Amino acid sequence: MKKEKRKEWIAILDFGSQYTQLIARRIREAKVYSEILPYSVDLEKIRQDPPKGVILSGGPASVYEVQAPVCDKKIFELGIPILGICYGAQLIAQFSGGKVVKTSQAEYGRVNIILDNQEDIFYGFPKETDCWMSHQDLVEALPLNFKAIARSENTKVAAMVNKEKKIYGIQFHPEVTHTPLGKKIFENFLYKICQCKPSWNLESFIEQSVKGIKEKVGKGRVVAGVSGGIDSLVAAVLTHKAIGNQLYCIFINNGLLRKGEAEEVQKRFKDNFKIDLIYVDASERFLKRLKGVSDPEKKRMVVGEEFIRVFEEKAKDIGKVEYLLQGTLYPDVIESISLEGPSSKIKSHHNVGGLPEEMKLKVLEPLKYLFKDEVRKIAKKLKFPEEVIWRQPFPGPGLSIRVIGLADKEKLDILREADEIIKQEIKKNNLYKKVWQSFGILLPIKTVGVMGDIRTYDFVLALRIVNSSDGMTADWAKISDKILGEISNRIINEVKGINRVVYDISSKPPATIEWE
Ligand code: XMP
Repeated sequence: MKKEKRKEWIAILDFGSQYTQLIARRIREAKVYSEILPYSVDLEKIRQDPPKGVILSGGPASVYEVQAPVCDKKIFELGIPILGICYGAQLIAQFSGGKVVKTSQAEYGRVNIILDNQEDIFYGFPKETDCWMSHQDLVEALPLNFKAIARSENTKVAAMVNKEKKIYGIQFHPEVTHTPLGKKIFENFLYKICQCKPSWNLESFIEQSVKGIKEKVGKGRVVAGVSGGIDSLVAAVLTHKAIGNQLYCIFINNGLLRKGEAEEVQKRFKDNFKIDLIYVDASERFLKRLKGVSDPEKKRMVVGEEFIRVFEEKAKDIGKVEYLLQGTLYPDVIESISLEGPSSKIKSHHNVGGLPEEMKLKVLEPLKYLFKDEVRKIAKKLKFPEEVIWRQPFPGPGLSIRVIGLADKEKLDILREADEIIKQEIKKNNLYKKVWQSFGILLPIKTVGVMGDIRTYDFVLALRIVNSSDGMTADWAKISDKILGEISNRIINEVKGINRVVYDISSKPPATIEWE
């Protein structure tokens, strides 16, 4: 199918920075559409649908290394304004004849910078401002036709410009909230340098996507795997609005769901959304496949594969189907782009591209350019019930990766009971919406306890409660002793099989949110 031209957009070339997604977000927040592309993108693609501006992201490499990721140099000849951030700025310097060196005075964290003028990207700024630096390399010699426009105590070139070509390089990170005026830098770049108009909003997104689905699918059939999570649900509701009962939703109970979840999801589809649901109880099949599997990645693979098999079988019953609907979000897409790029794989998520080639289904991904909070806003506009909008994220492999090591029915049942208590207590204390996730992890460790006068020898449960804005980074939540105590008491008293609860006080990075 011919790819439609984007109306007005900003291209972000990803050099592997952990902050690249944040750049995309900041630009959307400024009401301009943006897309992240791999740094090695074919320039022809850019020429065919030229963006109003290009941003070169940061990255972990050094531009003077032989293996350093570089984009096509001709990008500087397109006449499109460019903003390089950290590695991106150093790349501009290197490409244009300047010199980038490793510094003995690396800067990490909040740094004060002095601006030489208050123009262009610094329009409306004071003479000095704080920014967030994270670098070991710096621009030592400016390239020809560039001048420095900001400096810090240790960096002569904290920002530079080639005014005539509208190429800007900044050593610090405007995308992180620790750079207080970072948002303004993006707005200045978008509106003053690239001449963008604020045109991206969610109402127009709903309208356009319903229209787009209708046009794309025509009279064809679409099949969707739904989980009860907000992403697949929003995707299903938008598609249902577009094509009605040409959409077939399949909900697979894999035996790894939380307490009461299978019933809740079925009720929700029927009562709230009036969408027919094909329900498959495949829990036994999944548990059988998980027998003897204790390696985390293997568990993820087994659950993913089994899901595909069950799904294929059910899809066959429907007859001829052309499309597979997926609730893929932008971070998933970026993750799979990045897997080919310079950043490294941490865990496999099986939401993207998991279905086999032979199914020959075309993929429909109406949410693929959205972030989670944007999906929540759309759900609100579509009048979803609050508990759906604010349901905490739940991993595809479900409780199998929260029972550490071997996950059998007995352990899953124990975890399910503890998980339900955590949910109830967190909701009771009005924390459910405030924290990103709150859940239990059943450890493969038994410890001695005493209940009444009787010795017990039962499992340990780890309680994990984290704050995060997008799941990419997270802090362990500072919960009051009283609440932690209540959760622990209830679990130990009410759940047979657990006699000890510990609280996980690790942040991401270096830990991850899930334990497996
Ligand atoms: P980690 O453990 O990588 O998790 O810090 C980040 C966020 O992603 C969720 N997660 C998943 N979500 N399928 C999903 O849909 C998966 O396989 C998966 N693994 C982790 C996790 O709950 C957290 O919100």
